[in-house]
Amino acid sequence: MDVIVKDTYEEMSREAAQIVAQAMRAKPNLVLGLATGGTPLGLYHELIRMHQEEGLDFSKVTTFNLDEYLGLPPTHEQSYAYFMQHNLFRHINVRPDKIYVPSGLVEDVQAYCAWYEEEIARAGGIDLQVLGIGRDGHIAFNEPGSSLASRTRVVTLTKETIEDNARFFARPEDVPRFAITMGVGTIMEARHCLLLANGPSKAEAVAALVEGPITSQITASALQMHPQATVILDRAAAAKLKRLDYYQWIYENRQYLGR
Ligand code: GLP
Repeated sequence: MDVIVKDTYEEMSREAAQIVAQAMRAKPNLVLGLATGGTPLGLYHELIRMHQEEGLDFSKVTTFNLDEYLGLPPTHEQSYAYFMQHNLFRHINVRPDKIYVPSGLVEDVQAYCAWYEEEIARAGGIDLQVLGIGRDGHIAFNEPGSSLASRTRVVTLTKETIEDNARFFARPEDVPRFAITMGVGTIMEARHCLLLANGPSKAEAVAALVEGPITSQITASALQMHPQATVILDRAAAAKLKRLDYYQWIYENRQYLGR
């Protein structure tokens, strides 16, 4: 696991955008896994800028989003489909038929989840998966206790996650209690995982992810087993790491490894 610490949220976002852009230039038909939440907004902002000013080309890229609330139509302002359209897709030249966001409105959810997994496989698997982290250490909506081998499925959100997301809804009782999410096992099959975290509220979860034991109680900790995981943090999110000096030392010396 590579841990990169930047001074600010903007620098964290730019570093992440460089990694995404580099992957797209190396493989124009990249299969890109995307996340929602406040964390990746700076990354998306920078990718939009690169598209508009530097011609970064998304025309051959396929995207798969991690998750969606169950019961929300894509027109609902708090749905993840709406979030992605407004914060990324409508500003870049990704083809609409190459965008996958799980649907929150399907009748046969099990069949749908199996289909979503098949589409990922049919696209050749996810090359680069962008991730955030919840305060309780979850990735996508894989709440504590999710199997580290789990696949795309319906989950019940924790009260903590519902509370965290209540700020986006008119009333707390409007926050959906269920979601469709890629599983930890699905995420672990991405060739490269890129997790971003910023702010003091994530420091505890980040320390558990990077330095704690691998446990289903902190589903992000499964990334310790991933052959290529990059964690990019701002200073506040890195504050509780014990080996911070070493991660920075590795980063300073990266050119000698040809990275
Ligand atoms: C939700 C999403 C996650 C996201 C997390 C953190 O639970 N399902 O994918 O990482 O929120 O969100 P934020 O970036 O707003 O802190």
